[in-house]
This record gives sequence, C-alpha cells and structure tokens, in this order.
Amino acid sequence: MARRKFIAGNWKMNLDRKGAVALAEGLVKAAANVVGCDIAVCPPACYLEAVGQIVKGSNVALGAQNVYHQANGAFTGELSTAMLLDLGCKYVILGHSERRHVLGETDAEINKKVIAALDAGLIPILCVGELLAEREAGNTMSVIRTQFDGSLAGVSREKLKTVVIAYEPVWAIGTGKVASPAQAEEVHLGLRKIIAERYNNEIAQIVPIQYGGSVKPDNAVDLLGQPNIDGALVGGAALKVDQFMGIVAGA
Ligand code: 13P
Repeated sequence: MARRKFIAGNWKMNLDRKGAVALAEGLVKAAANVVGCDIAVCPPACYLEAVGQIVKGSNVALGAQNVYHQANGAFTGELSTAMLLDLGCKYVILGHSERRHVLGETDAEINKKVIAALDAGLIPILCVGELLAEREAGNTMSVIRTQFDGSLAGVSREKLKTVVIAYEPVWAIGTGKVASPAQAEEVHLGLRKIIAERYNNEIAQIVPIQYGGSVKPDNAVDLLGQPNIDGALVGGAALKVDQFMGIVAGA
C-alpha cells in the first residue's frame, strides 16, 4: 500500500510574530497547488493561534511542539490537548530529541503524552533517535526499540494506525551532518520490523515514518526516494519558504 508523503516543519523556538505570520502566509500560497503530499507546520506555542488563522482551510495543517498529559489544573506553564485542539492543531510533536536530551523528558513521560494526544484525537509525531555515541557503540536499533516500546506502551493497534513516527538521529539534528539515505533507510526498515513484531505487518505498512536531521532541498530527493522513508521532519530549512517548499517538491 502506498503511504502518502508527509513533510512537517518544526520551527522550534524561532521567529517572532511577524516572521511566523509571514512564513505561514508564504507557505499557504506556495502550497496551494500541492497534491499527493501532506504538509504541516509546528510553530512555537505562542504563535499557534496566529499561524492557525492563516493556515485554516489551506493545504498546510497545524501542529504543536509539545503537550501536557493532564486535562487541566495546576500545571503552570503547560498546555492541554483540548487547548491545542481549540487552536486548530491536528498534530503534536512528542519525544523530540531536544525535549529528551535538553529538557530531560523520559519515555514514561512521553508515553503519557502520546496516550493523551491519541485519546483527544491529535496525531502524535513521535520522535525517536540515537546519540552519536550510541550509534558508534552499535546500539542504534536497541536504543530505538527501547524508545519505541517505552513511548508507545499501552497504545492499541487501532490507535497506532494514526501515529506518525519520526526517526531523528540526534547527531544529524542542526549539525548539517545528514544520515546517508542508506543509513536512514536501514533504521526505517528496522522500525517497520519492530512495528510488525509488536503489532502486525498490516499496521507496519500503514504507519508513516519521517526522517529528520539536516534535511535540505538538495538531499531530500535521495532520502525521500528510499522505500521506507515517508516524509521529513524539518528544522532549520523549515524557516524559509523556498527551502521548505524545495523539500516538498522533492517528495
Ligand atoms: P534540522 O533540520 O535543523 O537538523 O532539525 C531537525 C529536527 O530536529 C526536526 O524536528
């Protein structure tokens, strides 16, 4: 079964209101005639509303960069799934390496967020990926397996069908060092095997697996041409309309 390509921009903690609005306007215009590829942008939380107004009804969907698992209450600084839905979000990035390694998020915490997102009808973009030392020690797939099992514990077959996975090798994020198409494909295929083992082969063929880590227009075609790479989660290159659309064109 053919999986649709899905290109998402993770704007991280970048831009100001003016820049976010201009980028969203530029993307909506540039993406107006795109068919056969899903597109989303994930702006900083404080610009979700402004960007959401601009992308509403367009080819560009809205995603958040994080969510908290509780429905409401005394959780200073956090946002709930209902708040994200209220702002028009369809997706939420969870378990990004910067949240794992800079903010100290654990698989158990990510798991609660994944479950809360799925229960609310948000599509999680679940990130997994190894550190350079883990790759060099030959532990890439065991790290990925642990993150997969920990982050998706208790997620049913039906629910897994709506999850997007993003393989983001930590050593390739923001470094300009992109995984080679063969390196990325090997992990994507490994992830599909893990899904088949833990769930079944039908679901393994359905779940989209994006690659993230220094994706640019000039390496997108080779990466996205791999049989098990279904899209890209883009950081730096998502901040410029022409670069992001160059990656979409590659898909
Ligand atoms: P870069 O594309 O800047 O390497 O970032 C990738 C990423 O972390 C997307 O979530």
